[in-house]
This record gives sequence, structure tokens and C-alpha cells, in this order.
Amino acid sequence: MAPIRVPDTLETDRLVLRPRRVEEAATYRRLWTERDPRVPEHRRIDAHGRPTVADIAAGVDGEPGLLAVHRRATAELIGYCGLTLHGSERSDEPELAFELLRAAHGRGYATEAGRAVVEWARESGCPRLWATVWDWNVASRRVLEKLEFDETGTVLAESTHGRSMLTVRHL
Ligand SMILES: CC(C)(COP(=O)(O)OP(=O)(O)OC[C@H]1O[C@@H](n2cnc3c(N)ncnc32)[C@H](O)[C@@H]1OP(=O)(O)O)[C@@H](O)C(=O)NCCC(=O)NCCS
Repeated sequence: MAPIRVPDTLETDRLVLRPRRVEEAATYRRLWTERDPRVPEHRRIDAHGRPTVADIAAGVDGEPGLLAVHRRATAELIGYCGLTLHGSERSDEPELAFELLRAAHGRGYATEAGRAVVEWARESGCPRLWATVWDWNVASRRVLEKLEFDETGTVLAESTHGRSMLTVRHL
């Protein structure tokens, strides 16, 4: 498959998605502070306050497929949604990822952003997209269901954090 080209913008009725910028790192760190306590420690802010805003800023360019999600009406940054193009479970088949600030939950934004990203993947010639989700993450599982991902039955990890389940979307 040809490399996936990252778009300048993806637009939906209420949202604009575009490549993340280093200056947005404070908002991406806020997402870390809002994570559910069941999320494993390496994905949470540690006792020393790490990752810091600077740590997160340093990683922004390394994930070019994750797009900033802005509300179209206000230009407010509410999180990210996109494709993990490097380091995903299967590098030729990217993984869908999304995370929004709590204040923006419950309005259909993740589903709306996710639909635009799925369409981007389809137009790029991806045969499949993957997503992993914790069994307890009801909101995310519902978003994936609305985006027509199927549960594969594969459990990637099982621990005190829960079961990490692999889902797939055929395009
Ligand atoms: C997952 C997440 C992105 C969803 O964002 P969102 O914009 O609120 O999602 P949407 O509004 O598009 O859809 C959420 C759906 O889950 C449902 N839902 C949310 N919480 C729920 C709960 N506790 N029980 C049952 N359903 C729930 C909503 O009702 C909605 O479904 P509906 O449209 O059928 O009513 C957001 O919760 C988030 O950022 N969570 C933390 C990060 C995360 O989990 N990322 C995904 C990792 S796999």
C-alpha cells in the first residue's frame, strides 16, 4: 500500500481536523490528566508530573496521523482523532485513535471526527483499520460500534487494568 498522505484539513458539519501543532501540547497534556484511573500508569501523569508539556510537545511530530480536533464554530481545540501511522500493531494497517476533553464529551464529536478519519483511510486505499479498547470503556466501545468496527475476539492484554480488545473495520 502507498504511504498515507496526511491531509491539511478534514471538515465535518461541526468540526475541523488538521495536523497537530507543538503549541497545542498543553491541551494534549490536559487529556492525560483527565484519563480514567484504570488506564495503565505509563499512559498517566506520574508522581514527578511527567510527561510535562515539553515532553508532549517533543512527541507531536512523531505522530503525524493524529489530527487536532477543533470545533468549527469557536475554533476551540477539543482533542485529537486520527491514525497511528507508526508503531501500530500492524504498520501497514493503521490504528484509529481518539481522545477528547471531558468538557466536549457526549455531543457526538468523537463519532463525527471518527467518520471523517475512516473516510480518509478509505480514500487512501487502506483495506482495514484497527482499534484497541479496554472492555470497561463503554463510551469508546460505543463510538467504535457506531463507526462499524467489529470486535475480533482477540484480547491483546489482560490485567488489573481490564481486557484490551482488538476491533477491526473493513473498508
Ligand atoms: C471515547 C470518547 C472519545 C467519546 O467521545 P464522545 O464525543 O463523547 O463520543 P460520542 O458522543 O460520539 O459517542 C459516545 C457514545 O457512547 C455513549 N456512552 C457514553 N458514556 C456511556 C456510558 N457510561 N454508558 C453507556 N453509553 C455511554 C453515548 O451515549 C454515545 O452513544 P449514543 O450516540 O448511542 O448515545 C471520550 O469519552 C474520551 O475521550 N474518552 C477518553 C479517551 C478514550 O477512551 N479514548 C478511546 C481509547 S480506545
